[in-house]
Amino acid sequence: MADLQKAMAESARAVSETLDRLLKVGGGREARLMEAMRYSSLGGGKRIRPFMVTAGARLFSVAESCALRVAAAVEMVHCYSLVHDDLPAMDDDDLRRGQPTCHVRFDEATAILAGDALLTRAFEVLADIPTHPDPQVRSQLVLALARAAGADGMVGGQMLDLMSENESLDMPEITRLQRMKTGALIAFACEAGATLGKASEPARHALRAYAHDLGLAFQIADDLLDVEGTAAEVGKKTGKDAALGKATFVSLLGVERGKAQAQILADQASRHLEMFDEKADYLRELARFVVTRRA
Ligand code: IPE
Ligand code: IPE
Ligand code: MG
Ligand code: MG
Ligand code: MG
Repeated sequence: MADLQKAMAESARAVSETLDRLLKVGGGREARLMEAMRYSSLGGGKRIRPFMVTAGARLFSVAESCALRVAAAVEMVHCYSLVHDDLPAMDDDDLRRGQPTCHVRFDEATAILAGDALLTRAFEVLADIPTHPDPQVRSQLVLALARAAGADGMVGGQMLDLMSENESLDMPEITRLQRMKTGALIAFACEAGATLGKASEPARHALRAYAHDLGLAFQIADDLLDVEGTAAEVGKKTGKDAALGKATFVSLLGVERGKAQAQILADQASRHLEMFDEKADYLRELARFVVTRRA
């Protein structure tokens, strides 16, 4: 685990540097927009999705500079999703990554625009030449991220999440909601290295299967932290899901069965990596980390 933590810290540092370069404040009167974008993407976070990209890219010997751009793009989409998720019209949160949320620090309109602009910048980064010399690879990445982030992925999942307030969903319905809301972007992150490395279909299939189980385990862990964690640990308010009547695995299964389910999914995720050698050890360890994390 110590090794994993070192590798995650190193990847997070490199991703933050890349984000810093890709999000430069210009001189115009609109500088406030970029300040809000930087505030929402450079101030902490576990950087798990970027780590999935860089750890996946290692399996296929992808150039680091390419992997880091994709890692930064996926983090931009993630940060945009958090900025909008925290808005009063959505989860109405005022604490994120231990700091005031974007709409509290700036204002609501600026937070909406900062989210929009982070989302758009992510696609600009993917489509630009330094991301990969082969335009077909770049277009595959753009297509995959669009699918993961949009109406059939994260945004669709957020719609289901809001519609589920004070409704009781069954297991298949919650699974579908979480796969879209959280799983889709995680799946993109886990497969992106294979896309960059033009990996074989069996390798991509294995990474998709890994991501599928890991994404669910990750969201169950998030739901458990909302019940059991403290704001000081997780950097965001806890107890919100129950207060808003959200349908989660934990609201359905309870804490103990939720924990057991997350563990089963994490073990299952690792087993999908059998075809890879020790280069996949970080991804194996990540599966354990995802369900034991305290933030
Ligand atoms: C929180 O994601 C939102 C979910 C999809 C559960 P993370 O737990 O990855 O948040 P950061 O990036 O570390 O702040
Ligand atoms: C948010 O899920 C998932 C997103 C797509 C942003 P949550 O609403 O559970 O995330 P937190 O708990 O606020 O980080
Ligand atoms: Mg939410
Ligand atoms: Mg939320
Ligand atoms: Mg949550």
